[in-house]
Amino acid sequence: MNRNLDLLDPVVMGDEVSMYSLFEHLRETDPVSYVEHPDYEPFWALTRHEDIKFISQNNSRFLNNPRTVLVQREFEKALLEQFGTRNGLETLIHMDAPKHKKLRGVTRDWFKPAAIGELSGDIEAIAKKYVDKMESLGGECDFVKEISLLYPLRVIMSIIGVAPEEEPMMLKLTQELFGGADPSQSRGDETGDGLGVLMDFFTYFTALVEERKANPRDDLATVLANSLVDGEPMEQLDQISYFIIAATAGHDTTSATVGGGLKALIEHPDQLDKLRSNPDLYKSAAREMIRYTAPVRHMMRTTTQDEMFQGQSIKAGESLCLWYPAANRDSTAIENPDVFDIERDNRNQLAFGYGGHMCLGQHLAILETEMFFRELIPRLKSIEFAEDPDWVQAIFVGGLKSMPVRYQF
Ligand code: HEM
Repeated sequence: MNRNLDLLDPVVMGDEVSMYSLFEHLRETDPVSYVEHPDYEPFWALTRHEDIKFISQNNSRFLNNPRTVLVQREFEKALLEQFGTRNGLETLIHMDAPKHKKLRGVTRDWFKPAAIGELSGDIEAIAKKYVDKMESLGGECDFVKEISLLYPLRVIMSIIGVAPEEEPMMLKLTQELFGGADPSQSRGDETGDGLGVLMDFFTYFTALVEERKANPRDDLATVLANSLVDGEPMEQLDQISYFIIAATAGHDTTSATVGGGLKALIEHPDQLDKLRSNPDLYKSAAREMIRYTAPVRHMMRTTTQDEMFQGQSIKAGESLCLWYPAANRDSTAIENPDVFDIERDNRNQLAFGYGGHMCLGQHLAILETEMFFRELIPRLKSIEFAEDPDWVQAIFVGGLKSMPVRYQF
């Protein structure tokens, strides 16, 4: 039986066991699979590492625009009416050459390892604040709701320049945008999810741009408000979209990694012991958590020409969906991929994508994850699940919704 429609089922995709079993099935039986679902435009689903890497590195042949992530037909229609584009936004991930390169250039230096390294003192202080909070909660907490959702939010908001008192609103908007398929997180407006959320992001960031034009500071908002592209101020849609991608891509993904990373350590006490006894492993542990959790489930590309690809005839203009967690568990590219191994060489993983659009925030994400566990593990005597963890039902960015834990400091 062809199970490819399950890719669009947030319940199947919102649980790691059913999701990875589906990916294994597709990788083995139908690795370039044509998916036709009543609520979505058709697309080809790719689940093999080699194929996903190949598509990702051929950016002029396989375009990011016009279809970047999977959204329901009705919502695509609403976006087209409201914004004039099928994606609604014009973030880096929705652009192609030559515009993509120019706009990526605006913040490229900001996100380079050396610049990110300079933030490590600030990130360490935020990590300490959240580990202190965990300690103050007295031995039991919902790690996701009380710690891992909030820590990356504070990091990215402080980098952008959003005030701490605005964070609860940002958290809610991010969850509504990304966790939209989960009934418990969706806003439930008439378009299903999303459109009202985008309008709220627009309103907030438009005001922030005006503020930073008038009062520049040392933050990303000031860079975005005042940068010139080809000697001209950035278009308003580009600018606001830039904020939205930094705020959203920089938050839920890293939250999912920190939450999923702790879950993996609880489930693999040998790896936790190894980390405790060898602090040199924090960075590679962070990379392994990212591979293992692969929170960005997919991105899409559109073909520019007819292709014969892995025996399938794909027409110009058709869409390809790249399932990153499936690539990260492909044993032809990654040895024993289902094993959580904090010493693994992770150069070949695809959780950050690949090619010209490879995650701009990857060094920040690794540093944030590393810093959190560097602060937590030496202080933690023991930890266990207090209840079963629960997953967000999402097909785009996925991770834990709740993880009650019991612990001793
Ligand atoms: C573990 C955490 C993260 C994961 C798994 C992740 C994953 C991804 C993936 C898969 C892509 C698409 C790559 C492609 O199409 O080839 C991407 C793009 C992007 N990410 Fe991340 N990301 C993470 C954290 C961050 C952070 C902290 C930021 C900071 C702002 C960020 C900013 C971006 C941006 C701006 C893009 C668009 C790049 C472009 O299109 O040129 N991400 N990320």
